[in-house]
Amino acid sequence: MNAPHTHTGPFEGDFPIVVEGLTTAFGEHVIHRDLDLKVRKGEILGVVGGSGTGKSVLMRAIIGLQRAEAGQIDVLGHSILASLSDASDDEMRSRWGVLFQGGALFSTLTVGENVEVPLREFYPEISDQLRHEIACYKVRLSGLPEEAANKYPSELSGGMRKRAALARALALDPELLFLDEPTAGLDPIGAAGFDRLIRELTDTLGLTVFLITHDLDTLYEICDRVAVIADRKVIAIGTIDELVATDHPWIQEYFNGPRGRNAQASQARKPAGGKPAMDKHGGEGA
Ligand SMILES: Nc1ncnc2c1ncn2[C@@H]1O[C@H](COP(=O)(O)OP(=O)(O)OP(=O)(O)O)[C@@H](O)[C@H]1O
Ligand SMILES: [Mg+2]
Repeated sequence: MNAPHTHTGPFEGDFPIVVEGLTTAFGEHVIHRDLDLKVRKGEILGVVGGSGTGKSVLMRAIIGLQRAEAGQIDVLGHSILASLSDASDDEMRSRWGVLFQGGALFSTLTVGENVEVPLREFYPEISDQLRHEIACYKVRLSGLPEEAANKYPSELSGGMRKRAALARALALDPELLFLDEPTAGLDPIGAAGFDRLIRELTDTLGLTVFLITHDLDTLYEICDRVAVIADRKVIAIGTIDELVATDHPWIQEYFNGPRGRNAQASQARKPAGGKPAMDKHGGEGA
């Protein structure tokens, strides 16, 4: 049996993201209806659901990019829906980092310059040299060699581009990290390396992570809990063991279908605890 991570213990009851009664729609097309979700401080919450069930829209709603028809969204103690248009919104945006689905870097800027974009926006008073040094540090933190800072996105592999986008998401030392399908399109080894990086950064930087993924290995490997979106709401949230114990057909199919069983079996083959060995330096390339 897989051994789920237990990183959430001391912070239980402390929720940096709270969504209550959320309804979103595009015209007549209702995406979420009366959706509730609480993300615990310090956890990596995996968010799964069929394609088109509204995972990305939910993420956009939480970071204030998607209008809600009804409901409440509190992030780090601030009401997102109320502050959508006022100035406090700016301060909030500096407290989270986002890696959008298919998230693009600016192709005409080097990796380092990409990371400098948010630094320039939020801290215009920083000197050019310091800004450059901070950017290089974030590039290394994301597991890229420092030389990558001077390369253009087109000169990097897909896995390196993901890491570069992560470096940009980490530019402002965020408390929350939103990742939408970060390992999509990576080979399994690159994906596993990226997963380990996320887990290590979460633990060392004290991040809370909202992680949308289709990748079952990612769910088993690094997520503390998983939220399942179906029928326009979060139908279940918990550890994978807890989810598997429910009898919702989609959840059963997902975790007990052939791919789910493979991911579970490969997790069970790992040493006790299931936690991958960490390379302290953010290690292997993708
Ligand atoms: N800007 C938009 N205008 C109109 N409809 C939209 C818009 N963005 C998303 N939708 C619709 O909202 C629904 C949910 O989309 P969303 O992108 O959140 O799905 P998802 O769960 O992230 O899917 P996937 O796993 O494929 O990324 C889809 O039916 C989509 O067509
Ligand atoms: Mg999506």
